[in-house]
Amino acid sequence: MDKTQIEKILSEVRDLKCKTAKEVEDARVRLLGKKGEITALFDEFRTIAKEQKKEFGQQLNLLKNEAAQKIAELKAAASQDPASSKPSDDVTMPGDPFSLGSRHPVSIARQEIVTIFRKFGYDVAEGPEIEDDYHVFTALNFPENHPARDMQDTFFVSAGHLNPLLLRTHTSCVQVRAMENLPLPIRIICPGRVFRNEAISARAHCIFHQVEGLYIDKNVTFADLKQAILLFAREMFGPDTQIRMRPSYFPFTEPSAEVDVSCNICHGKGCNICKGTGWLEILGCGMVDPNVLKASGIDPAVYSGFAFGMGIERIAMLKWQVNDLRHYFENDMRFLHEFSRCVEV
Ligand code: DAH
Repeated sequence: MDKTQIEKILSEVRDLKCKTAKEVEDARVRLLGKKGEITALFDEFRTIAKEQKKEFGQQLNLLKNEAAQKIAELKAAASQDPASSKPSDDVTMPGDPFSLGSRHPVSIARQEIVTIFRKFGYDVAEGPEIEDDYHVFTALNFPENHPARDMQDTFFVSAGHLNPLLLRTHTSCVQVRAMENLPLPIRIICPGRVFRNEAISARAHCIFHQVEGLYIDKNVTFADLKQAILLFAREMFGPDTQIRMRPSYFPFTEPSAEVDVSCNICHGKGCNICKGTGWLEILGCGMVDPNVLKASGIDPAVYSGFAFGMGIERIAMLKWQVNDLRHYFENDMRFLHEFSRCVEV
């Protein structure tokens, strides 16, 4: 074994220059590969005399380590060189767009309704989704055999009981709990989820949302009801909105009415949204029936009040011209993103 040979390869390693990753790899093979120059020296080392091993062994190990380190350095430098085979990531590029979530349109509509009525001095009240028959029907003056109590409409939680538990079919039951528990006068709105045993279609769903309103005080009249609804409609659908009231029937109000707003698309001229009538139905309402006041311990000779109830999905459909209720439940991102720019009032 020849010392000058080791020194020659060492100086060659120290002077080694490579531009590309390929050149580095070629150098590695030439020096440290299976048939490389340094590997060959190690093969030769096995054959030398014992007394020479210590000296040559140290030198060979130094050479091998220095060569391996140099190759690693050259490799790292080559991979950062844009001229080298694979381009590295460009850290100055703009990042991937980051899309934020947004509120659900039903939440946006509910919040808008709540905000409008808060401005009128209404408080928000809530009640349980699993209610009993008494609060959903009996206290609201539903006759014993009224079809709304039928299994067809109502999801019962426990049947066969005198006062069975059920999933509330409307939020009107929250007004009963309010009349039982709150001091008079009462001015509340009750947003919440309701359940009905209905086939799912473009216009009906077994789960939806309502807002109930209730105002009870001395001398509350139908004119107050009409004014409250008119102001609400104008805040919700625009300042030019008109309302009309049609006589109707609900067990818990007398007299009762259904309210239409002038179509905010054709402005009364008639279009396919309002089916050519110029009007869109938005809610049911009326003066609280004296029987309902009495059931909750309020004297109808002293107090009177009005109530109203509306479907949130329906209000949202009319406001944003959504033609199928099912969109609200499918959570298709393309649909939800349509509302990401809606600002809550
Ligand atoms: N509870 C009724 C429904 O679910 C809506 C309603 C109508 C509520 C008239 C009222 C009202 O308070 O006065 O269809």
